[in-house]
Amino acid sequence: MSKYASWTHGKLPLPELLELKCRGQKIAMVTAYDFPSGRIADEAGVELVLVGDSAAMVVLGHDSTVPATMDELLLLTRAATRGAKRPLVIADMPFGSFQVSGEVAVENAVRFVKEAGADAVKLEGAGPTLSRVQAIVGAGVPVMGHVGLTPQSATMLGGFKAQGRTAEKAERLYEDALALEAAGCFAIVLEAVPAAIASRVTEALQVPTIGIGAGAGCDGQVLVWHDLLGLYEGKAPRFVKRYADLADAARRALEAYVADVREGRFPEEQHTYAIPDEELEAFEAWLGARV
Ligand code: KIV
Repeated sequence: MSKYASWTHGKLPLPELLELKCRGQKIAMVTAYDFPSGRIADEAGVELVLVGDSAAMVVLGHDSTVPATMDELLLLTRAATRGAKRPLVIADMPFGSFQVSGEVAVENAVRFVKEAGADAVKLEGAGPTLSRVQAIVGAGVPVMGHVGLTPQSATMLGGFKAQGRTAEKAERLYEDALALEAAGCFAIVLEAVPAAIASRVTEALQVPTIGIGAGAGCDGQVLVWHDLLGLYEGKAPRFVKRYADLADAARRALEAYVADVREGRFPEEQHTYAIPDEELEAFEAWLGARV
């Protein structure tokens, strides 16, 4: 059986996501931030690759996603799209790149498509974000929405914590998701939302929901590359499942390399280049005659 859910070759057609939802086939999304991660995600069979502004934390070492810039996200997206050929690649619009005006939002979304090869963009929030979604979709760029815990506004939300945990807040979240769909989003990320609420939202929407900390009722799931592979060693949220411990494997490999260099075990003959004997003799003769 193909490791891809349905389509057989080339780029996943965007409308296929709706088909997957209708058929009840789950959608796998992962973040990637460079050429090798884009390529590995593609080879593993994910449908969607997100070049998340989480790069600010897991790649660039910031404490939050807020400092991520357009230039940084463009560079990372450009690299990821060179590796991820079959999945749809979605570029996360960083904080400040779409809030100022519809015009600026469209300009920046178009840059992701034209300069970085992205297939779509993702915007956090609802409310004032809705008009930006409409403007960007109107300009011909597909948009993924994102509600629940939206890290760019973590300060206003009172920190990195689950959202929609009272009836009133769940109602708002439900309405926000419907409004994003009406504004033209082709899919919506639900982050850190009670599973029961995420399931109801998923049932109500025609477009797929992609959950992170939102339970198994969503149409798909997303995890951050560094969390999934054990490369980010900060405190992981409860919704993270770690599938490998690559930081430990990398550390052990590097320690072995350092020891080999210090002990003269590396490089070996197989890692070095030879020169024909007569050429070496001629060189040595030249060296001996050189004053
Ligand atoms: O930036 C990111 O990686 C995200 C995902 C967690 C959805 O927004």
